[in-house]
Amino acid sequence: MGRPWGGEHQPTTEPTVLRSETTPMSTAWDTYAETRPQRPVTNRTGQFTWWNWTQYPDHGPGTELLGQPQNVLDLGCGDGRNIAHLVSNGATGIGVDIAGLQVERARKRWSPAYYNELTFAHADAVDYLLRSEERFDAITSVFGAVWFTDPTVLLPLIVDHLTPGGVFAFSHEPPIQGCYGCQGSYIRPKGTGPPRVVRRWAYDGPMWFNILIRAGFVHITTDIIDAPDSDGVGTLLVRAERPA
Ligand SMILES: C[S@@+](CC[C@H](N)C(=O)[O-])C[C@H]1O[C@@H](n2cnc3c(N)ncnc32)[C@H](O)[C@@H]1O
Repeated sequence: MGRPWGGEHQPTTEPTVLRSETTPMSTAWDTYAETRPQRPVTNRTGQFTWWNWTQYPDHGPGTELLGQPQNVLDLGCGDGRNIAHLVSNGATGIGVDIAGLQVERARKRWSPAYYNELTFAHADAVDYLLRSEERFDAITSVFGAVWFTDPTVLLPLIVDHLTPGGVFAFSHEPPIQGCYGCQGSYIRPKGTGPPRVVRRWAYDGPMWFNILIRAGFVHITTDIIDAPDSDGVGTLLVRAERPA
């Protein structure tokens, strides 16, 4: 099956070729990437790869809700830390991110010399799916593109790109009560320059349930993972399947 962005690993010694066009949205996410600290090299138990659905280090469930996928797509993969973990456990993975800086970091961090089943694509999630014919056993998004894209546009594409019985799972912060649907926020650059705008789609578990049913998913579960500290904001974790 074709990989729309060439699909080959970029050797880390060569300049990264960014194939996505610059848009206000990609610029905003590049600005976000510039302001983010790099993640630690190992987790608390000294592992080089791990999965984290939540906004807290070393917290929450792992990949068990994904089963044993052979191939996985991570939408809004950031520096690739989650997808690299699944690949280190035997899956083939593609991470997609709209921010060129994140993709560059991911390609450097997860060198093809060690992670030869892992590919990163610099693209908007919707554009990527529109151009890909590949089918995946699991599609994931951790505080990623699923939170930042209109679900009426993205979900039909996701269901189409899953194998029958394939798993779709994503996480994000729960919405603020009474504030649902499209929400905007500013990302301020590190130095000078205008603030950038990003949008996210805020829904709670029952709302996601209805949205996912309408998009054709089955076996939908939604859970809140409590924060490690009782004052902290929890994490909404949603899992659904394409009908078998
Ligand atoms: C909050 S970060 C989370 C990154 C990563 N999933 C993690 O857990 O560290 C959100 C990521 O989603 C990416 N993103 C946002 N909208 C996107 C879109 N429409 N298509 C692809 N990536 C997107 C951003 O560039 C950013 O890397």
